[in-house]
Amino acid sequence: MKFGIPKEILEGESRVAIVPKLIRQFKKEGDEIYIEKGAGEGSFFSDADYEKAGAKIFDDVKKLYEQSDVILKVQPPENQEIEMLKEDSIFIGFMAPTVRKEQTKMFADRKVTSFAMEFVPRISRAQSMDALSSMASIAGYRAVLIGAQHLCKFFPLLMTAAGTIPPAKVLILGAGVAGLQAIATARRLGANVEAFDTRPVVREQVESLGAVFVEMEVVEDAETKGGYAKEMSEAFIKKEMEIIGKHLEKSDICITTAQIFGKKAPILIKEDMVARMKPGSVIIDIAAEQGGNCELTEAGKIVEKYGVKVVGAKNLPATLPVDASQMYSKNIITLLNHLFSSDNFDFEDEITQKSCITHNGEVVNDFVKKTLEENS
Ligand code: NAI
Repeated sequence: MKFGIPKEILEGESRVAIVPKLIRQFKKEGDEIYIEKGAGEGSFFSDADYEKAGAKIFDDVKKLYEQSDVILKVQPPENQEIEMLKEDSIFIGFMAPTVRKEQTKMFADRKVTSFAMEFVPRISRAQSMDALSSMASIAGYRAVLIGAQHLCKFFPLLMTAAGTIPPAKVLILGAGVAGLQAIATARRLGANVEAFDTRPVVREQVESLGAVFVEMEVVEDAETKGGYAKEMSEAFIKKEMEIIGKHLEKSDICITTAQIFGKKAPILIKEDMVARMKPGSVIIDIAAEQGGNCELTEAGKIVEKYGVKVVGAKNLPATLPVDASQMYSKNIITLLNHLFSSDNFDFEDEITQKSCITHNGEVVNDFVKKTLEENS
C-alpha cells in the first residue's frame, strides 16, 4: 500500500496525522509512506526526521494524492483536497460528515472509502483509536491554562507575609473527557473546583479528582445506551441555568465543555447570567465551535462584556501540537491496523462499520445518512 500524509491546510492547524517515530508501527514490507514537504513543521518534525523513518518527501501535493492509495489527515478535507483523492482510494481522518454535507457527497461521488475518526465507537476495544478523547483531554488541559492566563488572580491558596490569598474558584460545566481533564488541571494548580454534568454517573469521577459535584435532581434520562449525553428538555435546561447561575456568581473561571454528539451545543449561560458574574471573571467556552455553551461566545474571539471575558476557544489541540500529533498518530495507526487486519474490510465488525462513512459510491453510515436526509 502507498500511504500519503499531506500538510494540513486549515489556518492555525499545526498537527500532522503521523509522527515519524510511529511510522514503523504500520509500515509493512512493500508499503511506501509519502509525506508532503513541511507537513511536520508545525509539530517540530523535520522532513529529515521523516526520511530517516523511511518516508519519501513530496514537493508536489498533487503527485502525493495521485500516487497514494490511502490518505491520512487530521482536519476534514476541503473541496480542493477531496478533488485530488484518487477514485477508489481510502481516506482516514476527522470528517464532520453531518455538517460538511457537500464534502460527504463528494467523497461518495469519487468512490472514496472514507473513515471518520470521530465515528469510531466509544467501546473498550477501540479506546486506543479514540481520537475524540485524546484531543478532548488536550482541550481540557489547555482551557485551564488559558483561563489562568486571563484571570488577574492567583489559582492556589497563598499564605504570605503580605497576607493570605484565597484560591481561585473554578466551575466546570460538562464532566466528559475534556471536563475531567480540566478539573484535574485546575486542581493541580490549586483552585477550588466545582463541576456539573447531566449524567449523574460522572459524580464519582468528579469527586475522585477532588472537585465538588454541583447538586441537581436529574429526573430525565440523561444518557443514551452508548453512554453519550442526551439532549435535555427546555424545562430541564431552564432549571439547570438557575442552579448554574448561582454558582457562576461566585466563580472566577467557568470552563464550559457541554456537548451533544452530532448536534449544536446547548446554551447553558445566558447574557444576564454573565452580567451577574464578578467583574474580572473569565469564561472559556470549549464548545465554541459547536455553537458554544454561552450566549455571548464567538468562536475564535474574546468577547468582553460586563467586565467578564468570554473566550471562544477554537482548535485547542493544535495549541499543543507535539503531544497532540503523537496521540493522534497512535489513534489513527491503531484504527488503520484494525481496518487492514484482513484482506478486505470487515463490515460486520462494529468499529469498521461505524467509522466508515462512504463506500462504493454511497454514504453507508446509518447515522450520517439519516442526519443528511433529515436536513435535506
Ligand atoms: P462530549 O464532549 O460529547 O460532552 C461533554 C460533556 O457534556 C458530557 O459529559 C455530557 O454529559 C455533558 N453535557 C451534555 N449536555 C449537558 C448539559 N446540558 N449540562 C451539563 N453537561 C452536559 O463528551 P465526551 O467527553 O466525548 O464523552 C461522551 C461519553 O463517552 C461519556 O459518557 C464518556 O464516558 C464516554 N466515553 C467512553 C469511552 C470508552 O468507553 N472508550 C471513551 C471516552 C468517552
